[in-house]
Amino acid sequence: MAVENKVVYEYIEEYIRQVQPDLSVELEQIRLEAERDGVPIVKPEVASLILTLLAIKRPKRILEIGTAVGFSACLMSKHLDKDGKIITIERNNSMHQKATENIKRLGLEDSIKLIYGDAKEEMRKLSGEFDVIFIDAAKGQYDTFYRDSLPILADGGLIIADNILYKGLVALEKGAIDRRNRTIYKRMREFIKMVMNNLEFESTLIPVGDGIIISKKLEYTERNDKLYEQDKS
Ligand SMILES: C[S@@+](CC[C@H](N)C(=O)[O-])C[C@H]1O[C@@H](n2cnc3c(N)ncnc32)[C@H](O)[C@@H]1O
Repeated sequence: MAVENKVVYEYIEEYIRQVQPDLSVELEQIRLEAERDGVPIVKPEVASLILTLLAIKRPKRILEIGTAVGFSACLMSKHLDKDGKIITIERNNSMHQKATENIKRLGLEDSIKLIYGDAKEEMRKLSGEFDVIFIDAAKGQYDTFYRDSLPILADGGLIIADNILYKGLVALEKGAIDRRNRTIYKRMREFIKMVMNNLEFESTLIPVGDGIIISKKLEYTERNDKLYEQDKS
C-alpha cells in the first residue's frame, strides 16, 4: 500500500487554509519565523479547530505541554476568559527563551506563564484545576502526560492532543511500519485505545492536521449515567 505520509489530502488542506481568516500581524510574524527556523507548530486547520473549541468553552485556565516558541499559547490567549491564565511548559532552553521574547512582544505576560522544565516533573508540581489541557510535546510520552492530566482536569474539562496519527502511520497495518517507527506506532496505538475506552471521558479522534484527539471529562452525573449504561449492556 502506497503511503503518502499525510492524514489529509494536500488540496483539501490548501483549500481550508485559503478560507481561513488571517492571523494578526504579530502572530503571523511568529508563525513565519517558526516556519523559517523549522520549528514545528500547530497547523492552521488545527489552530482553527482549537480556537473554535476555546470559543465554546471560554476556559479560565489552560495548561499547554510543549510551548516551542509560544505560537499556540499566544493563539489560545484569544479565547481565554477574563482574568484567565495559560500555563505552558517547555523543556528546551532556546525554545523557552524565544517563547519568552514572543510573549513579551505580544504583551501577553499577564495571561501566559511559561515554565521551563520537563513536563513529566513540572505537571506534578501544579496546583488547582484546568479547563483545557493541550498536549503537544514528545509523542512517546503522551500516555504519561494524559494520565498526569487526569487529577488536574476540571469536570467538563477538555484534553486536546495533537499529532496523534503521526503522518497517518498510526492507521496502517503493523506489517507496513518500518523498524524505526515501530515504537512510536505501538505507543500511539496503545494511547489511542486507552483514551477512547476511558468511560469517564467522551472522546473523538479527528483526521485534521496530523490527527487530533479531543477528550471531554464528563461531569459527575454524566459519568455515572455512562457507567450505568455500560453495566446494563
Ligand atoms: C510540536 S512543538 C510545540 C508546538 C507549540 N505547541 C505550538 O504549536 O506553537 C513540541 C515542543 O514540546 C517540547 N517538549 C517535548 N517533550 C517535552 C517534555 N517532556 N516537557 C516539556 N516540553 C517538551 C519540545 O522541546 C518542543 O519544543
